[in-house]
Formats: sequence, C-alpha cells, structure tokens
Amino acid sequence: MAERIAEEKINQIRQSVDIVEIISEYVQLKKQGRNYFGLCPFHGENSPSFSVSTDKQIFHCFGCGAGGNVFSFLMELEGISFLEAAVKLAEKANVDLQVNFSASGKGKSVSPEVQSMLDAHELLRKFYHHLLVNTKDGQHALEYLLNRGFTRESIDKFQIGYSLNSWDFVYKFLTKRDFSPEIIEKAGLIIKRERDGTYFDRFRDRIMFPIFDRNGNCIAFSGRSLGADEPKYLNSPETVIFNKSKILYNFHLAKPSIRKLQQAVLFEGFADVIAADKSGVENGIATMGTSLTEEHITLIRQNTESITICFDSDKAGIEAAFRAGNMLIDVGCSVKVAMMSDGLDPDEYIKKNGPEKFRNEVIGASHTWMAFKFLYFRRGKNLQLEGDRLAYIETILKEISKLTKAVEKDHYLRQLASEFSISLDALQQQLKQIFFTEKRKSNGQPPPINKTSVRVKQDKKLKPAHYTAERRLLAHMLRNRDTAYRVQDLLKGNTFNIDEHQAIITYLIGFYEEHMKPDSSAFLTYIQDENLRRIVADIEMMSINEELSNQELTDYIKQVLNYQKLLKIKEKEVEQKEAERQSDFSKAAAIGNEIIQLRKSL
Ligand code: UTP
Ligand code: MN
Repeated sequence: MAERIAEEKINQIRQSVDIVEIISEYVQLKKQGRNYFGLCPFHGENSPSFSVSTDKQIFHCFGCGAGGNVFSFLMELEGISFLEAAVKLAEKANVDLQVNFSASGKGKSVSPEVQSMLDAHELLRKFYHHLLVNTKDGQHALEYLLNRGFTRESIDKFQIGYSLNSWDFVYKFLTKRDFSPEIIEKAGLIIKRERDGTYFDRFRDRIMFPIFDRNGNCIAFSGRSLGADEPKYLNSPETVIFNKSKILYNFHLAKPSIRKLQQAVLFEGFADVIAADKSGVENGIATMGTSLTEEHITLIRQNTESITICFDSDKAGIEAAFRAGNMLIDVGCSVKVAMMSDGLDPDEYIKKNGPEKFRNEVIGASHTWMAFKFLYFRRGKNLQLEGDRLAYIETILKEISKLTKAVEKDHYLRQLASEFSISLDALQQQLKQIFFTEKRKSNGQPPPINKTSVRVKQDKKLKPAHYTAERRLLAHMLRNRDTAYRVQDLLKGNTFNIDEHQAIITYLIGFYEEHMKPDSSAFLTYIQDENLRRIVADIEMMSINEELSNQELTDYIKQVLNYQKLLKIKEKEVEQKEAERQSDFSKAAAIGNEIIQLRKSL
C-alpha cells in the first residue's frame, strides 16, 4: 500500500464521518453537556475520563493523555497506519478513494513476518477443519466430538479441526508452501529439537480449536487430546501475535451479541462457550485457561459493564468466580454469578438438562454478587454451630457495610435477620460498629479513588504559571487564526518555554498559511508527531472564554516572557556568587545591576 490518498479525499472522508459514531463502535459513550464521555480504551480506568467532542471532531483522555481525531483513534486502537485508517473510514463513509491497492487488498500493514504467521494460521485452520469434517483420518475425532454433544453447526461455526498424528505434517505442509521454518517456529506451530536443530509439529492427534483475535484473525490454537494424553488442552505458546492475557476466546463472534444484550457471560472453558452458544447463549467468552487480567476486563468493558460469571460449580470454579468477580466489582462492573447443581460445568449441565433449563435456570437465575457472597462465605461452615454461625454473620455484615445504597443494605440486613432470627436492631447496631472500626482503620482518610484520576489531579496542581499561560494562549490560537498571528507578533521573536508548545505553534502557523479557518480535526491530521497530537487534543478540550480580552492576552504573554527573564536572573545570581567568591567585587556589582534591571522589567 504505497499509494497516497489525495488531500481532498482525506477532507471528504473527515467531513462525512462522525467521530462519535465511529468511537461508539468501540466505547460506550454517554452524552454530558456538549461532549460525550466513556471509559478510555487506551488504559484501564473506573471512571470515565475519555471525552469526545462532536463540534471539534476530536477525542481526548484526561487520564492517560491519548488524543486525536478520528484517524488517529483508529490508528492507535487498531495499531494501523494512517492509510489503513483512511481506507476503513472511506468504506464507512462511502467515499470512493479511486486508488488501486496492492494484491493484499485492504490487508493490514503488519510486518512481513507477522503477516506470514497469520497466513500460516489461516491456512492450517482451514486444513485442520477439512481433516476433521471430510477425511477418514479425522473421522474418530469427529465421532468423539459428536458423542460429546458438539453439533455439526457448532463445529463449523467455531471452525474446529483435527491435527494428524504425525511428527512433521505441519512442518512439511508449510515449508512446501514457502513458509520459513524460523517463522513458523516463532509462531508456535512447530518446535525445534535441541539436539540436531530439526523441527517437529507441536500439535499431533488433537482436536484443534482455533483462537481468533478481535478482528477474526486466527492467531493461535488450543488442541484437546482425544484420550488421556496430558495436557488435556495444549495451547500455542505466547508469540508476537498471541498474548493470553489479552485474548478472550470467542470475543470476535460474541461481541455483537454482548453489545446488543449489554451483557457478557464469562466461562472457564472453550467447551462451555460452545455448548452455551448452541443453547442460544451467544454472548459467551472465556479466558485461555488463565485467570482474568485487567486487559481482559478493559476489553469487555468497552462493550458492556454487566458480566455474568458462569464457572464450573466445583470448589476451584467457585474460588475462581470469587476472584474474577471481585476484580470486576472493583472497577465498577455489575456482576452476577450463575451456578449449577452437583458441581457440574456448563457443558455437562447442558448435556444433562438441555438448553432451555440452562438458559432459564442457570443464566436466567444467576445470583446477584451479594447473594453469591452469602453462598461463598457459607461453604465449609456448619451454621448449626454457634461459633461458625457468629463468624458467618460477622463476615456478611462486613460485606453489607461496604454497600453504598441504603436500600440494598436494608434488604440484606433483613434477609440476615430473618434467616438467623436476630433482631434487625441488633444487626444494625453491629453494622454501625463495623463501620466505625473500618473508618478508624483507614485513619479517617477518604476512600481510595482510582489511581489515574489522582495522578491527573496532582499533575494539574504542579503546573507553573508560564505553563498554564502557554496552554491558554494555544487554546485561543487553535480557535482563532488572528489570535495566532497576534501572539506571534507579541512574542517579538521569543519562543514559548515548553518545547512541545513551541512546536505546536510552528505547526499551527504553517497550517494557517494554507487554511483560512481553524479546523481541529484537520489540524490534527496536519501534525506528524503523535505526542504533539495528544497535547493538542488536550488543549482543544480545555474550557476557555470565547473572547480573549487584551488584558488577558498581555497577561499571558507576560507570564511566558517573565519565565525566561526569571531563568536569566537565576543564571546571573549564580554568576554573581561566583564573582564574589573570587573576590571580583566590581564584576559582582555589575552583575548585580543587570539583575536589578531584569527584575524591574518583570
Ligand atoms: P477444564 O479442565 O474445565 O476443561 O478447563 P473443560 O472446559 O471442561 O473441557 P472438557 O469438557 O474436558 O473438554 C477449562 C479451560 O482451562 C484451560 C482450557 O482453556 C480449558 O478450556 N485448560 C485446561 C488448559 O489450558 N490446559 C489444560 O490442560 C486444561
Ligand atoms: Mn467440560
């Protein structure tokens, strides 16, 4: 994709797409005043500091500083080039670019090595699937799956396959097609023998589950053994294209349903996701057999805040649900927990009880997070024993004391009161005690707020006057061409103190030479440097007075110039001390005069 797109086409694209619409595909946005707010897709956060302006057609995150226009949003989020972002947007906006892109079509501009890894996965995925559904070699594997209750439909939908019982099938298959052994080894598909440097296939005689990224590229496999071979599931290793802590199984297929239902169901295993899907629960996802990470949570929360955890109902599953649930609650998600009887896992439950019961009596009857905790803390306790009973009540009261809504507190207190025949009064009193003890523990400090917002606030406080003045001036210069030239004049050849600010002025003047009117989004395209783009987006989002009075203008300019004088004074003071130290008193006196002059000019 060496082609360039004409500037008028870029302008046409920019004018025909709405940044709010595009970003809404990735982030849930809520309107607040003139702008839209949501959770930043570029860093993990609990309270929305990501804002999008319809007027200016730009976005900015007050938390991590990400910012730009619709092009840079796609570039940063999807890791694509400007050209690719333009192609994507042109498609959405129905703008005909009239350029012929090279053979790979709208393919990503990934490195040739990564492209080769993706191609190898794609090719193998198709071949594994073919082996499973069409060949005699795969027949026993197909029978195994059908016996387990997988349907042909699911097998196609999830592109399940079979890897031959061979040590070098994949190696030969791919190298014959000109894939380099080094690259397929890096992709995790073959393994190098220590002793002689030859290669062998990683996956042999296994049911193959392809793993897709959020764009539907196959980036890894998980192979289930057919018999008692260990491990039960063999996964691709971590590679440049496969990072377990970021990937959720089935995310690309489940996403539309997650968004539509505003609910995601989190399972422990692939088999569960597939069985649930077959039962009509299409918003299911699973981790790759690892625990839930912050990155997973960020990905989910770009689509919904409500998550139903449906893990195995055995001891390990319940512990894992408790951990995952706490992580989700901590970032403000709404969590439910679906449980099955007899320690079954969802796949087994569906096989035994059918899809309808699963939908209604498991997913549909999920416990609220608090109700789940009631059950969780009860395990292993004998509530007939006084000691166990009191300990349990104390634990639950602690949990209730953390609730913020009075109605909820009251509801669970009553539940506890009636279950253990204790007076509501007594429970309320104990709750108060717990509240005060906890408060004393935290030393009267306010409850912790999320780290990012704390950081941002501190940053803002520490900024010196000249910094703020420069930002204010830039904000006005970005909105008004005349102001830009006026500031330029008033600086009388001096520059802004912050290098980035000066660089923005240079770009801005260049932009105004070509364009008569300010245009936030167009200007962001004009700037080449990503860091500067972020700063511009930040400044664009500042609220300032529409009009800039002369007084205000000269005050700001003074702040900017004063800082340079103050630096000069500091420098002179050092020189003066040095002169005194060398007993060169006439020199020291001369410098002293200069300092007085400088001070006067402030
Ligand atoms: P489970 O052991 O619960 O498997 O592991 P399952 O989902 O019930 O699978 P079946 O029904 O026996 O086929 C849950 C998840 O843990 C990971 C896999 O991602 C699996 O889906 N896992 C499990 C591994 O990565 N390796 C293993 O050896 C086992
Ligand atoms: Mn299972």
